[in-house]
Amino acid sequence: MQLSVIGCGYLGAVHAASMASLGHRVVGLDVDEARIAMLSAGETPFYEPGLDEILKAGLASGNLSFSTDYADAADADVHFVGVGTPQRKDAQGADLTYVDAAITSLLPHLRPGVLIAGKSTVPVGTAERLAEIVKPTGAHLAWNPEFLREGFAVKDTVDPDRLVYGVADDTRDEDVAILDSVYASILERETPRLITGYATAELVKVSANAFLATKISFINAMAEIAEVTGADVTQLADAIGHDVRIGRKFLNAGVGFGGGCLPKDIRAFAARAEELGKGESVAFLKEVDEINLRRRQRIVDLVVDSFDGQPFGRRVAVLGLAFKPDSDDIRDSPALDVAVRLKGLGADVVSYDPEAMKTAQRAHPQLAYAESLDAALEGAEAVAILTEWKQFRQLDAAETAAKVARPVIFDGRNILDPADWRAAGWTYTGMGR
Ligand code: UDX
Repeated sequence: MQLSVIGCGYLGAVHAASMASLGHRVVGLDVDEARIAMLSAGETPFYEPGLDEILKAGLASGNLSFSTDYADAADADVHFVGVGTPQRKDAQGADLTYVDAAITSLLPHLRPGVLIAGKSTVPVGTAERLAEIVKPTGAHLAWNPEFLREGFAVKDTVDPDRLVYGVADDTRDEDVAILDSVYASILERETPRLITGYATAELVKVSANAFLATKISFINAMAEIAEVTGADVTQLADAIGHDVRIGRKFLNAGVGFGGGCLPKDIRAFAARAEELGKGESVAFLKEVDEINLRRRQRIVDLVVDSFDGQPFGRRVAVLGLAFKPDSDDIRDSPALDVAVRLKGLGADVVSYDPEAMKTAQRAHPQLAYAESLDAALEGAEAVAILTEWKQFRQLDAAETAAKVARPVIFDGRNILDPADWRAAGWTYTGMGR
């Protein structure tokens, strides 16, 4: 099929390349000329395993192209909208400027019967509003949320655990058939497919993220209790996780969640619920957000306490800057936030991340960035692991002790074995253990 993907950020670039890898002819559109030039040259604008290969293959086969000109999307049968919906600068709600601009720019190029499939995460009610704008052109609108995780974005796009089509009643069969053609090879694997109205499809996405965020904050709340009782939250998570109704996934306590999705999505959801007069229904999300942010301060306090409240000029190695491993994304990253807070208190922070140094440096040039893990560790008087990269998991306690000035470690992701590290002479502190 002939497809367009509006917005070539994380979601859009992955979606465009993935759809081309499924055999469709795809044009990716973005207003950012530099980004389009990069993608056209086969360069990925961010680190995402597997994207590089399918991007290059798509360009080489001629199935994939990129443009800044909406007219190049005019032949498409389906227009996917994958632009960003960041948090508003002045409030907690979502900024829909890019979604609205995408639809407005697309309008002159729409033909009757073509489908616009929204993929961006939007406040419930957005699709219904946009459908009215699109109606006069004879094009249809569906909402088809994505659930991709960074680090697994390509896999989650070409092999998702479910597909959700939010469609209008009057064009339901036609629109379902179009989306089924797009996703034919995915549906062959009997991937669950749910057909809903607009509101449900929009809510599926935000409620999934709200649930995941709540699960993380739940275990971090248990970490707070563990800290004052001498319990170990990782053992607790293992034990409750054996109950299949609870499950062990997303029960890792630590410095909490960050990234381009969970934090802004729970805030936007709470803001939308307020607008709908149902603020109390998701009031707990404010608590989820607060628990999450408290964990960042907790590790800062632990580090400061280890210097008897005088962190000024003391050397702290911060290991990890990305919001999660296998990513160079630093949006709302707990790791970077902790590094910045410690630096703000006067500590001599030297940070290291296997992939996110460049993105972090752009956002926070005031921080010191080590060229290697060893360089970060050298002379450190405290080490804080804040992103669970494999490289940090595999650190050897004795070898690492020989590199630092003072063997004091804060395991912000609970990835090390406390007994091993203590046996090697370290003062080990985890989160809630
Ligand atoms: C998330 C959702 O998982 C995905 O379905 C949605 O489409 C987009 O948002 P992503 O932002 O890539 O994906 O990250 P995710 O893997 O969910 O992790 C989010 C944050 O939670 C990370 O900072 C991670 O370190 C943290 N986390 C995750 C925990 O602190 N503990 C856990 O047990 C799991």
